[in-house]
Amino acid sequence: MSITFLRHLLQDPISVGAIAPSSRHLAAAMADGAANFDAIVEIGAGTGAITESLVDRHPDAELVVFELAPTLADKLRARFPAARVISGPFHENVGVLDGLPERTVLVSALPFRSLPRRVVRPTVEAFATFLRAAPERHLMQFSYSLQAPFIAPDDFEWQRVTTIWRNAPPANVWQLSCQPLGGR
Ligand SMILES: C[S@@+](CC[C@H](N)C(=O)[O-])C[C@H]1O[C@@H](n2cnc3c(N)ncnc32)[C@H](O)[C@@H]1O
Repeated sequence: MSITFLRHLLQDPISVGAIAPSSRHLAAAMADGAANFDAIVEIGAGTGAITESLVDRHPDAELVVFELAPTLADKLRARFPAARVISGPFHENVGVLDGLPERTVLVSALPFRSLPRRVVRPTVEAFATFLRAAPERHLMQFSYSLQAPFIAPDDFEWQRVTTIWRNAPPANVWQLSCQPLGGR
């Protein structure tokens, strides 16, 4: 485990919500779900394990990265100069999403099970608004349990894509898509 991750974990365990950075196997599975999009928005990039996989696999996609911790955001900026890195809570910076292409995918490592309700609620609302705006959009999210990562609005559906055993702890990869209620 990197010193950077450990320091961040000790300083803010609730926002980190993980015992180790994402493995390259989990990062690859998350990036697989972001194939064939014009833009990728990563939320909660941390030490950049998933960011690296996104950049390697989808070099032509525009990349916007959100990370709460300013020190980690600075490191991400230095390591991924082509990405636009936003420091601070995602839900307070959603204006950055305005003007992104219709074919934009969200890739989130946010620890919804440990984040407080005052963060979860506006974050889920922002995800839902962004996904409803174009039918081809979806969210990739991982969780450490068999339960869906968060309770989504009624017009959304979770699909469990795969389980990644080579991660500490093993993780489930999920995809959330809008299913307009009239269209079911
Ligand atoms: C599970 S960790 C990230 C794991 C990452 N894939 C890695 O390998 O380092 C979750 C990250 O989300 C960030 N985070 C938590 N709440 C956030 C928020 N509201 N907006 C943006 N980032 C947030 C934390 O600072 C932390 O770096």
